[in-house]
Amino acid sequence: MSIPNSILDRLRNVVGAQGYLDTPADVEPFTVDHRKLYRGATPLVLKPATTQQVSEILKICYEAGIGVVPVGGNTGYCGAATPSADGSQIVVSLSRMRRIRSVDPDNYTLIAEAGCVLAEVQAAAESVDRLFPLSLGSEGSCQIGGNLSTNAGGTAVLRYGMMRDLVLGLEVVLPDGRIWDGNKPLRKDNTGYDLRDVFIGAEGTLGIITAAACKLFSRPRELVTALIAVPNPQAAVALLSKLRTASGDAVTTFELMPQLALSLVWRHIPKTVNPFDEHYEWYLLVEISVGRPGTDMRAFIEEELGAALEANQILNAALAHNEAQRESFWRLRETIPEAQRVEGASIKHDISVTTSELPHFIQECTALLEQLAPDARIIPYGHMGDGNLHFNLSPPVGADAQSFLALAPRIHRAVHDLVAQYGGSISAEHGIGQLKRADLVRYKNPIALELMRSIKTALDPKGIMNPGKVL
Ligand code: MLT
Ligand code: ZN
Repeated sequence: MSIPNSILDRLRNVVGAQGYLDTPADVEPFTVDHRKLYRGATPLVLKPATTQQVSEILKICYEAGIGVVPVGGNTGYCGAATPSADGSQIVVSLSRMRRIRSVDPDNYTLIAEAGCVLAEVQAAAESVDRLFPLSLGSEGSCQIGGNLSTNAGGTAVLRYGMMRDLVLGLEVVLPDGRIWDGNKPLRKDNTGYDLRDVFIGAEGTLGIITAAACKLFSRPRELVTALIAVPNPQAAVALLSKLRTASGDAVTTFELMPQLALSLVWRHIPKTVNPFDEHYEWYLLVEISVGRPGTDMRAFIEEELGAALEANQILNAALAHNEAQRESFWRLRETIPEAQRVEGASIKHDISVTTSELPHFIQECTALLEQLAPDARIIPYGHMGDGNLHFNLSPPVGADAQSFLALAPRIHRAVHDLVAQYGGSISAEHGIGQLKRADLVRYKNPIALELMRSIKTALDPKGIMNPGKVL
């Protein structure tokens, strides 16, 4: 079904000449997802500048029954922001709604519009000596509206939580165009159901988030960043508990990286080096941050790591001595996805189990994958402190990409079935989008699915919001 020209004209009128794209070349970037798994089509990309314009757009689409696909920085992994291939949906990009509406350092909050790039929100917080702690590899291009809609995670979840935990209020345009102003920067408000949580992580299927009241924190004054080699994941979990207890829960980042992941980084990413003389099977990137300067956290951590080294709980450790070295440690972790992409085809997972069960899961899952894909390079890396790993595979060296990728459905099924046995999640931080809809039906609790469908029907009875995504 193509959208009548009369409707397209009405939509163009809402936003004015600066506010839309409609030539094939201009709309093209909005028809492909970040991982190039999906290719869609659309006659029109709208770029509203105000909440009012978003409301006018949705009123028209609701009345005409036209599908609407909201998009932020288009950095998602599951195709949630890509329109269908039949050209029957319009895309709404929030990129022009990029204002920080207010910053309140005493309330430790700021109000940002959905199109603010994550790095801009971080900078706005920093300008008043505060911290907005959400931190991801794509922070220079992802937008806060997308972070909200996917409940983004990243590398500081252990200390500060996911996006959901960093929000106090939301402004949302509902599918019929009504504006829900729930954007109060209050920490306490027990007046019935918490509607905010319904829209966070909904991937644009229930409405369009246009602004949010975000929580801020005191900025850390002292950071200790370490690259640590451990004999195995079990030792890593033991170290995490030890450091959490000893530091008074000041561990912000605890990321696991296998040797195979770092070997791809050293091969493909310029200016990356192994700070150790040797290679180890497992590495950790650990960051501990304290709000009070002069606590000598560094000496304290050195002591803890020294003791762990003597007890053979860790094999080696390097502490960053300056900002450049800290960045070089972080670069090792943050460029793993890019290094794996450059290496060629990959089969990806985004799973979580409890942190305590993670070492056993790694063992069992690795054994399973060795049977299903002999000689494939198994590369589980990521957010160990959150029990969340990207359990990825690269093909055997020199293998044909297509025959490797043909194994993907069987491998996904086996990994996700194992995750289900552990009571874990098949999508810990990347969401569902188009990619994991069938998995959602297979693995989500049936009553939870039923409730999700009821919410969808109640809020979007005509099903215009991001059709074909999540449910
Ligand atoms: C990461 O943790 O690096 C990201 O979630 C990306 C990925 O899964 O590759
Ligand atoms: Zn991740």
